[in-house]
Amino acid sequence: MTLLSLQRSTVAKTLWNSRTRVFSSKSTGLSVDVEHFTAGWNNAGGDNAAANGKCSVQTFNKISPSGLSRFPESYYKVEAAESASGPANVLLLRSHKLQESEVDVTVRAIARCGAGTNNIPVARMTQLGIPVFNTPGANANAVKELILCGMLLGSRRIVDGVNHMKSLGEKGLARERVEKDKAMFGGREIHGKTLAVVGLGHIGSLTARDATALGMKVTGYDPGLSVMSALKLPRDMELKDSIASAVANADYISINIPYIKKSPQEGGTHGIIGKEVISHFKKDAVLLNFARGELVDSHAMKAFLDAGDGRYVCDFPDDELWNHPNAILLPHLGASTYEAEDEAASMAADTLRDYIEHGEIRNSVNFPTTALEERHDQVVRVTVVNENLPGVLAKITDVCAKAGMNIAQQINQSKGDIAYNVIDLNASNKPMDLKDFQRDMTMIEGVLSTRIIFGAPGVGFARNVNGQYVV
Ligand SMILES: NC(=O)c1ccc[n+]([C@@H]2O[C@H](COP(=O)([O-])OP(=O)(O)OC[C@H]3O[C@@H](n4cnc5c(N)ncnc54)[C@H](O)[C@@H]3O)[C@@H](O)[C@H]2O)c1
Repeated sequence: MTLLSLQRSTVAKTLWNSRTRVFSSKSTGLSVDVEHFTAGWNNAGGDNAAANGKCSVQTFNKISPSGLSRFPESYYKVEAAESASGPANVLLLRSHKLQESEVDVTVRAIARCGAGTNNIPVARMTQLGIPVFNTPGANANAVKELILCGMLLGSRRIVDGVNHMKSLGEKGLARERVEKDKAMFGGREIHGKTLAVVGLGHIGSLTARDATALGMKVTGYDPGLSVMSALKLPRDMELKDSIASAVANADYISINIPYIKKSPQEGGTHGIIGKEVISHFKKDAVLLNFARGELVDSHAMKAFLDAGDGRYVCDFPDDELWNHPNAILLPHLGASTYEAEDEAASMAADTLRDYIEHGEIRNSVNFPTTALEERHDQVVRVTVVNENLPGVLAKITDVCAKAGMNIAQQINQSKGDIAYNVIDLNASNKPMDLKDFQRDMTMIEGVLSTRIIFGAPGVGFARNVNGQYVV
C-alpha cells in the first residue's frame, strides 16, 4: 500500500487527532495560536510523543550518541523507530532500507548519516514534499587517511612482510629468519613522487592537500571542481584537462569520483579506469581506489599488474584481483572510524535542526538549498512546500494579503518538481490566530505541506493529502 493510499484510508478512519496550542514567547511577548499536529496511522488515537509539543526524532540503525545529543531534550524526543511511543516527526538513519510504509504522515524530514541515499525512496519522498538530507564529506577525513595508508601499503611490501612474519612465527623461525628475509620486502618512498588525484571533491581535495604536506608533487583532474574544494587545494598543484593527462606521469593515482552505472561514453563512470586510461599509467604506478570497485575495469587492471610492477590498492571486493600478488584488497573500511560516524550523525542532526527550527535547507538531495537571513524578533515564520507549478507563488502571497498579514521577507526556491517558500510575517502585538490562515495556505492546489515555525519545534505542521486538510 502506498503512503497516499494509507493516508486516505487513515483519514477515512478518522484516526487523525489534533489540538490547538497557543505559544507565547517570553522574549518577544508574541502569542501565536497554531494547530498542534498529532496525526499518524501508527498513532491510532494515542499521541504521547506529540502531546508534550516535543519533536519526535525516530532512528533506524544505531546512530552515534554524540550526534543524538545534539537534539536538546527540552524540545526533542529521540527514540528507536521500532519501539517508538508515537508517530515520528523526523527520521534519522544510516543503511536501513526505508520503506514508504515506515514514513508516517507526520514525518516532515528524513536524514541519512552518510553520503549515499539509495536506501531511501527519494523520488517518492519528493512527491510527498518531504526533504531528504545527507551528510556529504562527513567521512572525508577517514577515507583520506586510508588513502594515505594505501599509498604506503602500495610502496613497501608491508602486508606481505606481516604475512611472512606470521608464517615464520608459526614455525618458530621468526628470530632466525626475519633479518635475512627482509630484502624480499623492500620498497620506495612517497616523498618527491607524483600523485594524480582524479576527482577533487571532499575526499580528493583533502588527499591532494595532505600529500603535498608529505612532500609529494600533486596533479589533478576534476571537470566539476567546486569553489569550496578549490579553496582546499594546495597552491602549487597542477590541474589537468583529462584523466589521461593527469595520470600520465604519476607514481600514484587516487580516484575519488562517484560511481554512475553507465559507460563513460554515456555520461557514467562504470569502468572509467579501463584499458585506455591504464595505457597512460607508468609501469610501476600505484592505483588507489577508495571510491567504488566498479570504477575500475578488473580485466584491464589485471593485465596491467601482470605486465609490470604496478600495484592496486582498494577497499572494495574484486573476484578477479583479490589474490593477485600486486593487489592489496581491504574490506570496505574507508569510512569506518568512530570519528566519521560521530561527524555524520552530528552533521545530520544539525541539518535537521536547522530545517525544523528555522526552515533552512542545506545538504538536501531533493530540496533546493535555502539559506535564510536571521529572523527578526517580531516575526512568525511560515514555510510552504509545493509542487513546482506556475501560479502557486501568487496564490501563496494572495492568502497572506487576504489574511491581512504583512510579509517582512520572503524567499522562493525550486529544485526539479519541488518548490519551497519561506515567508516571515510581521507579528502584531495582539494574539495571532493562524489556524484559518494555515488551512487556506495548505489547501492551495499544488501545496503539499505548510509549517508555522514558532515555539516548540513539534507543532504547526499541516499537510494537503489529495485535497484533505490533515493537521
Ligand atoms: N571507501 C569508502 O568507504 C568511501 C567512503 C565515502 C565515499 N566514498 C566514495 O568516494 C567518492 C568521492 O567522495 P567525495 O565525498 O569526495 O565526493 P564529492 O562529491 O565531494 O566529490 C566527487 C568529485 O568527483 C568529481 N567528478 C565526478 N565525475 C568525475 C570524472 N569523471 N572525472 C573527474 N572528476 C569527476 C566531481 O566533480 C566532484 O568534485 C564517492 O563518490 C564515494 O563513492 C568511498
